Amino acid sequence: MAKKIKWSVIGSGGIARRRTIPEGILKADNAELALVYDINEQVNAEVANEFGARQAHSVEALLDADVDAVYIATPAHLHRDHVLACAEAGKNILCEKPLGMTIAEAQEMIESCRTAGVKLGCAFMMRFVAQHVEALKLINEGRLGKPTYGRAQLSCWYPPMEGAWRQDSVTGGGGSLIDMGGHCIDLLEMFFGKVSKVSCFINNTIHDYESEDSATALLLFENGALATVDTFFCIPDASSKNVLELYGSQGSILAKRTIGQGPAGQMVAFLEGEDKGYDAQQARGADNGMIIAPDPVNTYRAQIEEFTQAIIDDREPAIGAELGLRSQKVLAGCYESARSGKAVEVA
Ligand SMILES: NC(=O)c1ccc[n+]([C@@H]2O[C@H](COP(=O)([O-])OP(=O)(O)OC[C@H]3O[C@@H](n4cnc5c(N)ncnc54)[C@H](O)[C@@H]3O)[C@@H](O)[C@H]2O)c1
Repeated sequence: MAKKIKWSVIGSGGIARRRTIPEGILKADNAELALVYDINEQVNAEVANEFGARQAHSVEALLDADVDAVYIATPAHLHRDHVLACAEAGKNILCEKPLGMTIAEAQEMIESCRTAGVKLGCAFMMRFVAQHVEALKLINEGRLGKPTYGRAQLSCWYPPMEGAWRQDSVTGGGGSLIDMGGHCIDLLEMFFGKVSKVSCFINNTIHDYESEDSATALLLFENGALATVDTFFCIPDASSKNVLELYGSQGSILAKRTIGQGPAGQMVAFLEGEDKGYDAQQARGADNGMIIAPDPVNTYRAQIEEFTQAIIDDREPAIGAELGLRSQKVLAGCYESARSGKAVEVA
């Protein structure tokens, strides 16, 4: 039987328990779950019991154990310390987004992993959504023409809660923008290339916690395309369709709910081909777009299998830490713009 990479988890009680362990590590053909750690001992015991793993009682104990890879799913402000400890122990690391709290932290994390000779990935699992993969193919084939405009939306209802780390910028690094907008920005860069300049507003429109509950960013890409990211903690879940819209000089790709955690999304492409000249009537035919409905892919499984295979093949992971750093740079530009009221060049 092919070798399976032994995984462990730091911060087992949140998204790890809900998604990444059951749908990712346990389902991946090339991975197995060995050990879990969470600061909440009771939760950790439940997770270990639920998924047939051993319990570690400290980060140090987990790193002393015979494991090849660590999935870090702790609150954002702990990522740096956990990554540095894992690197020093010689473990490969898949770290949840945001990679760090700042550009400097992300750079330090990358450097420490490079020095230690371990792999560092960032968990932008929405890149694996089957429709996103198809959309990227169409764009790379030139079927959209020259990219002109994109919109990525990710919003939910996130009311004030005691101890919620995302609601305090000291522990979350920000609110809806860094937490959910990070995925949107990463996806738009996957489709359109690098962002060069940003302009952004953030606000607390409904909730009175310290982090923003509202953010809208306008992005200018190096290739001249524009995009908006809108991401709110104060729109009811069912009311946000988490739309993705990608427009070019020859068509558009429009999706609902492909941005998110599940496979429920729908995507349609309108590919009109070469320039047909100006039509003063602006005539539109029937809504005869091409439905893009590939077999669904479980993104949590895909991200674990891909990162695990990078360890086995001793190559760079497809979603490496450089993308985490890139995201951090665009996010930092957005927050700087929101603070200064000016458009900001991305570092
Ligand atoms: N890609 C996705 O689908 C997705 C979804 C949700 C969250 N996330 C990311 O995952 C990370 C965790 O988010 P979450 O929603 O699971 O948060 P959470 O608060 O639900 O869970 C975090 C877990 O970490 C544990 N923890 C806290 N401090 C710890 C410490 N010092 N040592 C060990 N464990 C500790 C907590 O007890 C908790 O069980 C964040 O970076 C977040 O952005 C990603």
